[in-house]
Amino acid sequence: MASVHYTCLMIIAPTSENISIAGRALREGSIVAIPTETVYGLAGRIDSEEALRTIFAVKGRPADNPLIVHVATVAQAHALILATERSIVDLLAAAFWPGPLTIVLRKAPGLSDQITAGLDTVAIRMPSHPIALEVIKAAGSPLAAPSANRSGRPSPTMAVHVENDLGNSIVILDGGPCEIGIESTVVRALADNLLILRPGVISAEALASATGMQVSDPTGAEPLRASPGTRYRHYSPNAAIQIALTVDAALEAVRVHGANTMVLAPPMYLGRFIGCFTGSLTEHDLYAELRRSDDLHVDRIVVLCDDSLARQPALLNRVRKAAGEGNEEDAGT
Ligand code: TXA
Ligand code: MG
Repeated sequence: MASVHYTCLMIIAPTSENISIAGRALREGSIVAIPTETVYGLAGRIDSEEALRTIFAVKGRPADNPLIVHVATVAQAHALILATERSIVDLLAAAFWPGPLTIVLRKAPGLSDQITAGLDTVAIRMPSHPIALEVIKAAGSPLAAPSANRSGRPSPTMAVHVENDLGNSIVILDGGPCEIGIESTVVRALADNLLILRPGVISAEALASATGMQVSDPTGAEPLRASPGTRYRHYSPNAAIQIALTVDAALEAVRVHGANTMVLAPPMYLGRFIGCFTGSLTEHDLYAELRRSDDLHVDRIVVLCDDSLARQPALLNRVRKAAGEGNEEDAGT
């Protein structure tokens, strides 16, 4: 006789009934994983110290890494910041919210130190994903939400990625694959200039033209270097990652390292790599491909970053981090 086993269903459809259930759970201090247009987030109410503690514990996240607060209205953002910061948030929100822009501003008193890691600033964004917005409304409060991966793993772009990382005790609202696939642009808004802290699909040029402000982007200053293959702590699959700057260098790396290699390359080049595992190097697919490399048990990932990627600083930034560059400066998120 076939054995019967019971599964606890933790990935749930985003029906209006399930969204109200998620809202109730959040109001009671639980945490819920939610889809956003960038990556899945692990959300808790900003006024629940218990929920915030659980977020850090479940992710294994260092306490000194602050969280992004997700809002559904600009008024909710105003309540989190000093009154003097309102005009800059209004300017940026008019151009980019709802959407993948996180704005770092001076915080109002009273916000939990768990959210800000004791800083005098708070990071805020209004996601554009309708399910995320509905959950914030159902929870009756802005939600603090880091990406819903275990710290140091690639951010989750599908519900099953969250389940694989965080086990089966977290309720995950399934919004399908995330439309963008990498995390939001994080920008520190100062009185007369903007400083990009993490690049994303909203570019420095878009920020400058929408605001007329000067935008500096120290995150993309270093040219990409070919790397021989390292292990790393960010966005990390199990394989070593090697950056190749040309198709020929990538072909040579595959020849040297053998069949148990995976090549991630811009889609137009994939036909050049026959006889090894391949994956598409795009913002949308990068994290899913890094996770697939674990399922395939490859030893090495060769990432082909040629000049065709020059206009994609956010993608190059994530590849750099996956390859182990600059890991000291921020612990996995
Ligand atoms: O797209 C996203 O931003 C996703 C979705 C879920 O919204 N969230 C996300 O959160 O990527 P997380 O926690 O993985 O990354 C938040 C980033 C970290 O690099 C953190 O250090 C930075 O934002 N951050 C948060 N608060 C900050 C603050 N007050 N000052 C400077 N950086 C801050
Ligand atoms: Mg993260």
